[in-house]
Amino acid sequence: MSEEIQPQAPVATIGGIAAYDGQEVTIRGWLYNLRESGKLLFPIFRDGTGLIQGVMFKKAVPPEMFEALKNLQLESSVLVRGKVRADQRAPGGFELDITNLQVVQAVSQDDPFPITLKEHGVDFLMEHRHLWLRTPRQNAILRVRHEVIRAVRDYLDDHGFVLVDTPIFTPAACEGTTTLFETQYFDQKAYLTQSGQLYNEATCAALGKTYCFGPTFRDEKSKTRRHLTEFWMVEPEMAYAHMDDVMDLSEQFISYIVQRVLERRPAELKTIERNTAPLERVRPPFPRISYDEAVEILKRKGSEIQWGGDFGNADETLLGEEFDRPVMVHHYPAAIKAFYMQPDPQRPDLALGVDVIAPEGYGEVIGGGERMSDYNLLLQRIREQNLPPQAFAWYLDLRKYGSVPHAGFGMGIERVVAWVCGLEHVRETIAFPRMLYRLYP
Ligand code: 4AD
Ligand code: MG
Repeated sequence: MSEEIQPQAPVATIGGIAAYDGQEVTIRGWLYNLRESGKLLFPIFRDGTGLIQGVMFKKAVPPEMFEALKNLQLESSVLVRGKVRADQRAPGGFELDITNLQVVQAVSQDDPFPITLKEHGVDFLMEHRHLWLRTPRQNAILRVRHEVIRAVRDYLDDHGFVLVDTPIFTPAACEGTTTLFETQYFDQKAYLTQSGQLYNEATCAALGKTYCFGPTFRDEKSKTRRHLTEFWMVEPEMAYAHMDDVMDLSEQFISYIVQRVLERRPAELKTIERNTAPLERVRPPFPRISYDEAVEILKRKGSEIQWGGDFGNADETLLGEEFDRPVMVHHYPAAIKAFYMQPDPQRPDLALGVDVIAPEGYGEVIGGGERMSDYNLLLQRIREQNLPPQAFAWYLDLRKYGSVPHAGFGMGIERVVAWVCGLEHVRETIAFPRMLYRLYP
């Protein structure tokens, strides 16, 4: 392995190659593909920022260099020097007339790169996720994810929310005890966080509007296309806010994120072959319907749902199909929602919770609502749910010292990326997914 080549030409990235038209540059990358035609070799290089086709003339380089490229295995790493030439037929608009090529590390002929252009099964690709990430489609998905995350941060930072990180080791459940990952914490039990919400409620009383953004964990034994055991959630929380404020923020937030990806990542969406027409429509206002209305719609569409039941994946898909943009469903039966939800004053059997359900079958992307602000009622709920009151003493304190109406939500990044990219499954939206049967690589 050697990297001794002294770049005699400026180092360029393929993504930024247009700035070098007519000049000689050095590209540091990998051999993505190779085609041979007599005295010509047509390698395609990738460097993480794009693909470019090179042309190597047998006569333009020393014979051993021509042979070296001719026999080079895909995904070998290379330093390539060449002159940039605009060519409208070329995929990125440019080609490279190669004058020098140095192999940094040659992949062995006996052990070629396992991922080829032919179809592979999902298990095989997942087992080789560390290498699969190099392919253009996966590259594009990760870039869209990055854009979604930048948009999330920009939106909240520009709207007065303060980022406050919440802990990952926690002493108690937030979203029900059935999906807790337990771990030993010195001489006591701890759980990996399911949500930073309870802590956000403390930080919003300190700072007004806050958010946390980090990995969250759920012991989800279900094998669906929407569930990971480790996923990233962004959670804004606002003091002096109600359920309507959650809906206002949700529609603005989601619309901003989707429009920003359309604006800044058109090339990636094209690589993924995403039909962007449905995304163009994602602008406020979003339809708002009650749980009662949602149940009526579902029954009409043939669902078996009964009033009081929670929506399954199939129900969410049916609801999503009914609207051309995300739909916000509010006023769920309190019995199917978390212990901390504020009851509706008119109908206390209903909770002031709201879920945002994405169109095109992507299901719930946001869950949130107004939090219970009364001390005694909250204590009662904690007891009813058999949660340990000692672990929630600090949380109850928030209702003792200047309790105010407050509200917020959590949005799963992977669900949003799957929807924006139009993917079959959330597993491709994160570099190294963690699922029921996947802990490697
Ligand atoms: O609806 P959830 O469970 O809500 C909460 O955790 C609240 N405490 C959030 C809050 O109000 N601050 O989860 C919120 C979102 C879901 O809408 C979904 O997008 C995502 O998190 N999510 C998952 N994403 C991937 N895999 C899973 N297993 C997920 N579970 C929830
Ligand atoms: Mg939910």
